Amino acid sequence: MENAQTPTPRKKTILSGIQPTSTPHIGNYLGALKNWIALQDEYDCAYMIADLHAITIKNDPAKLRQQGLSLVALLLACGIDPQKSILFFQSHVPTHTQLAWVLNCFTQFGELSRMTQFKDKAEKHKGNVNAGLFTYPCLMAADILVYNADLVPVGADQKQHLELARNIAARFNGLYGDTFTLPEPYIPKTTARIMSLADPTRKMSKSDENPNACVTLTDAPEDILRKFRRAVTDSEAEVAYREGKDGVNNLISIYSAVTGKEIPAIEAEFAGRGYGDFKTAVGEAVAEHLRPIREEYTRLMADKGYLVSVYKDGAERALRRTQRLVEKVYRKVGFVKMER
Ligand code: TRP
Repeated sequence: MENAQTPTPRKKTILSGIQPTSTPHIGNYLGALKNWIALQDEYDCAYMIADLHAITIKNDPAKLRQQGLSLVALLLACGIDPQKSILFFQSHVPTHTQLAWVLNCFTQFGELSRMTQFKDKAEKHKGNVNAGLFTYPCLMAADILVYNADLVPVGADQKQHLELARNIAARFNGLYGDTFTLPEPYIPKTTARIMSLADPTRKMSKSDENPNACVTLTDAPEDILRKFRRAVTDSEAEVAYREGKDGVNNLISIYSAVTGKEIPAIEAEFAGRGYGDFKTAVGEAVAEHLRPIREEYTRLMADKGYLVSVYKDGAERALRRTQRLVEKVYRKVGFVKMER
């Protein structure tokens, strides 16, 4: 049969963001970024570097700029494909802030006051509790709603913000008729929750004072090895995944994530061997897993023209995708139509 018309169902839209405040570590990679890559075939994905969000805490401008550009290279090196997905800087697409203002006016002081991340950050940055930090969730809601995103991959720390975005969307829809898609959280089937190598009861974090606690995607292989060799474990000398063995459990999870081996196979592989061998094996496996990313990153960092072309194209596509919705919202709330 010629030209059989089978309607292709619309791919669902995914939007997510990452702040350019530090080089992503293996926790960010195994917990989130790897998943971003995997979603690209099945979904219509937009990935955003959330630079507007980044300035809600103090930043050195030169460093922020450098990290933003590096992050483009790193995301591409990890496998974001600009043919499939849109990759852009939030600050390059004015519709995000245009919508954010309106959403600010449909969000209550009390709601924002209940955001646990605001409370945590206000406590941590006592000298700079700025209005942007407070209304941050409205900007994040705008990022999501301006795209009509169906699904938003987020970590546990962002769940409350996503819930608020849904509430704002539902409230607006209730007042003005169907305008926004209600976004759902996207919970990947397998999430690796990577803990600090220095204190395995805490999540891996770039802001850890101990430089051996965190392995970033651009760490040199010898640094990766050193950090894993110093990883905190326990005094039992048994590679087994068990309650109470946080350090070993973490190393097993990491090893499993980068090698694809199942936990029982890993336990068998290291049965009767000491932690020294095990930690070295994990370090080597991680360094090897990151090798292609590191190499591609280095190559891309030397090709600034290409990086610019990617984020420029991304911003143009993002703007085109989102302009109509902002016009619709501006009309609904009563602004006089801007004539072009
Ligand atoms: N707030 C998110 C974070 O700090 C980043 C982010 C900004 C985001 N806008 C978003 C994530 C929209 C998902 C969707 O991790």
